[in-house]
Amino acid sequence: MRILITGGCGQIGTVLSKALQDKHGFDNVIVTDIRSSPPFECMYEQLDVTDSNKLFYLISKYHVTQLYHLAAILSAKGEANPIFTWNINMNGLLNILESAKNYQLDRVFYPSTIAVFGLLTPRIDTPQHTNLTPETVYGISKAAGENWCNYYFKKYGVDVRSLRYPGIISWDTQPGGGTTDYAVDIFHKAVEIGKYESYIDHGTRLPMMYMPDAIKATLELMEAPKESIKVRTSYNVAAMSFTPAELAAAIKQHLPDFKITYQPDFRQAIAASWPESIDDQEARKDWNWQESYDLAAMTSDIIKNLTA
Ligand code: SER
Repeated sequence: MRILITGGCGQIGTVLSKALQDKHGFDNVIVTDIRSSPPFECMYEQLDVTDSNKLFYLISKYHVTQLYHLAAILSAKGEANPIFTWNINMNGLLNILESAKNYQLDRVFYPSTIAVFGLLTPRIDTPQHTNLTPETVYGISKAAGENWCNYYFKKYGVDVRSLRYPGIISWDTQPGGGTTDYAVDIFHKAVEIGKYESYIDHGTRLPMMYMPDAIKATLELMEAPKESIKVRTSYNVAAMSFTPAELAAAIKQHLPDFKITYQPDFRQAIAASWPESIDDQEARKDWNWQESYDLAAMTSDIIKNLTA
């Protein structure tokens, strides 16, 4: 097995690349990203995902059999330049799907997101199959992307699998340009300066997941037998949901002097268009999804690691 990962130096890509190296061998994981050099030890190639020639070249050079396509521009940053965001997110995916088809690759992973949902979607226990009218360019591109994955599976037999990640929380890698980034930043500020000003309002509940669970979900989905993957757009997956106020209260259990204030900005409207909680029973049924971390377990693990 030879894996190529795009966006491999991002928040999820960094952790996923290392997990794939551990599982499949250092030399079997080709990490790519837009930056010129990687922040960790890996087999590295610089790649702009809109450059299909370079992508095709790397696939043949390394005899790649699987792709993990993590490169994308996220919800908050994407709003600053909608057409640029659409170009990266959409043409990047189409290059990946075309290469999977042309080189007959075994498997492709494509991350989708809770940002595919919008104001017309039921906000509590959001169903797997529901209205997708997203409010952001990022959400529009991921909703379209899910449908392209389904299309390539049905039309060309490309075994592409996808998860609708909730907000992903990590302590050792930084998110870039998302709406849920507050839930990462708050931990660093809590440990470093004891206070945090949240750009999301105190009562806005969002679905979230701790990084080890996100990696586990990704690897389990990719290892599941082909017949058990029934959803070929993208699976709902959930672990926990909380508001900034609830997250602050969980942090206070460990750092009693921690103070939070609220100064909502444009990201509040994005957050308010997303679900509060997700119904992920299809993932639980089809490939036995089960999270390991709730809010309390995640909070104590992050604070232990950051204070160490
Ligand atoms: N974490 C992402 C964002 O906030 C959601 O997929 O944009």
